[in-house]
Amino acid sequence: MLFSKETYTGRRAGLRERVGDGLILIMGNNDSPMNYPANTYKFRQDSTFLYFFGQHRNGLVGVIDADSGDETLYGDEIDIDDIVWYGSVTSVRQMADECGVATTAPMAALADAVAQAMKSGRTVHFLPPYRHDTMIQLMDLTGIHPSEQRAKASLPLIKAVVALRSVKTAEEIAELERASAIGYRMHTTAMALCRPGVTERYIAGQLDGIAASLGACCSFQSIASMHGEILHGYPSDRLLEEGRLFLCDAGAETVEHYCSDHTRTTPISGHFTPRQRDIYDIVVDCHDLALTHARPGVRWWDVHFAVCRLMTERLKALGLMKGNVDDAVSAGAHALFLPHGLGHMMGMDVHDMEGLGQQYVGYDEETRPSSQFGTASLRFARRLEEGHVVTDEPGIYFIPDLIDLWRAKGINADFLCFDEIEKYKDFGGIRIEDDVLITADGCRFLGEERIPYHADDVEAFLAARG
Ligand code: GLY
Ligand code: MN
Ligand code: MN
Repeated sequence: MLFSKETYTGRRAGLRERVGDGLILIMGNNDSPMNYPANTYKFRQDSTFLYFFGQHRNGLVGVIDADSGDETLYGDEIDIDDIVWYGSVTSVRQMADECGVATTAPMAALADAVAQAMKSGRTVHFLPPYRHDTMIQLMDLTGIHPSEQRAKASLPLIKAVVALRSVKTAEEIAELERASAIGYRMHTTAMALCRPGVTERYIAGQLDGIAASLGACCSFQSIASMHGEILHGYPSDRLLEEGRLFLCDAGAETVEHYCSDHTRTTPISGHFTPRQRDIYDIVVDCHDLALTHARPGVRWWDVHFAVCRLMTERLKALGLMKGNVDDAVSAGAHALFLPHGLGHMMGMDVHDMEGLGQQYVGYDEETRPSSQFGTASLRFARRLEEGHVVTDEPGIYFIPDLIDLWRAKGINADFLCFDEIEKYKDFGGIRIEDDVLITADGCRFLGEERIPYHADDVEAFLAARG
């Protein structure tokens, strides 16, 4: 367990107060088989369970009675066979003591507790499940079919969890800094290895090793590709080629599952061509612009659009866009180059709490989601508060199929210079990403050391690696 007992009892008291009444179920994760039952994926606890109960063991459910304040940790003790094969582990009673929960019970007793609550007409609150075994557990407990569980998840519980987990405390920020330090090692290693003849897969494998040896694992499957224009381009056995760019988007989770998420785009030859540098410098300036806008009270929506306007202005200067900048951005013309949002919340999930629903995490009554292509992928948009952690990840991509589609359909033809854009179809894509903490009067990047990203710093780093 990462934090003191009081941290967990305080968080649960905050949750109880916000939800008001009913029985709150916080489902822990179960072991998940990979290719046969005993060969499991590395266990990853549910982040909300970790937030309120702090325990990493599989097969636990935490229950909070919002009316009476009673709290119970449900879980089965391991038996002698488990001890023979895996060694002994902390008992359920000890785990409950560690996080300040008064009562424990075997898993079989949970069905009775839920049935009792439902019989007396009380609300049983649960979060939208994302694993199929949890869906089956919830179906057994509540009778609600998995296909209806996301819709029937508790809105008061979702909103309470989002409100609490959105604001990171000093002790959480320290852990996020640890994740960023691992991210620094990962990305400087990737940059040092980035040379003609090395495979994408080799570099991604080195990143997995660093993340797993210094923390728990990567915070998501690393994106490591010469095809930076494929937003989630996973590594292949391709050899890195002279003259091209290598986009690496990867992060770490600490042992306690706080995340980092960084992207760097490295010239494989060690220096940018003039054409690459023109585009790269636009992305750098967009990345830095976000830092000058982000502070409490400002909507991330507005930071995103300030970046879109700067990008459009600069692409216009390069002859790739035309017309009035504000009109082009309102029409969504920039999304040909930037089809995703500027960033997302980050915490114990790399896309923090995304499983609870983007509309509740990134949006609110004031800031509503858009269905426009590009803006629809902005995962976070509402007003920033001190303690929020968001990623700043602008990018410019030349996606041949998207260019062909828009050109053929005349989409945003008033703002796009398709003849010029055509010449960039072999370019690939550039993204630069760091993690931003919103402070009392502004913001700062997480991580003590900056992974080089200004073009001169990147080239100096590549020259110095030998
Ligand atoms: N996993 C891609 C990103 O959000 O940065
Ligand atoms: Mn990323
Ligand atoms: Mn990201």
